[in-house]
Amino acid sequence: MSWEMDPQLGRVVVGEEELKKRVTELGSKISEDYAGKTVLLVGVLKGAIIFISDLARAISVPVELDFMAVSSYGSATQTSGVVRIIKDLDADLTDKHVIVVEDIVDSGLTLNYLMRNLSARGPASLAVCALLVKTGIQYTQLNLAYVGFEIPPEFVVGYGLDVAEAYRNLPYIANYLGGE
Ligand code: IMP
Repeated sequence: MSWEMDPQLGRVVVGEEELKKRVTELGSKISEDYAGKTVLLVGVLKGAIIFISDLARAISVPVELDFMAVSSYGSATQTSGVVRIIKDLDADLTDKHVIVVEDIVDSGLTLNYLMRNLSARGPASLAVCALLVKTGIQYTQLNLAYVGFEIPPEFVVGYGLDVAEAYRNLPYIANYLGGE
């Protein structure tokens, strides 16, 4: 069945071409800002994997990759408010230029927790690159240096984002309607 025929998917929120263009822009901006340095991209599993792999290739300064997994939504579409590290980083962050790569910032709870946790590990610098931010998020409080798109506060899937593990391979971001 083609994606277009899936009754659980609503409108396209961010299309394939838009994603490609914006990821290239973010990569250029990061390359400019970190000229002469090596950046360590920290991907937050699993939602950020598609984004981080495209972003890494859009960056022209040397890139290192590491991953961590934190608990967030489970299979429901509502935040639990509980953040737990399920898989920690392999890398020592001391003196590294770290950019946390997030798929989506909704309540900001996950990111808030991560930033506090990672800043305590002594990185040379710490920034965030989020592909999507839902409107109403406190930008200044979270210090989001790089943001792909601001989207309405509705549930979306695709380009790494899932609902109960489904739709991660959808090549664009779509509104999830749910239903059986
Ligand atoms: P926050 O802690 O409320 O900001 O939620 C962040 C995490 O929840 C993200 O990294 C996603 O894993 C998940 N999430 C939030 N909104 C969505 C959505 O619309 N679709 C899929 N996952 C989402």
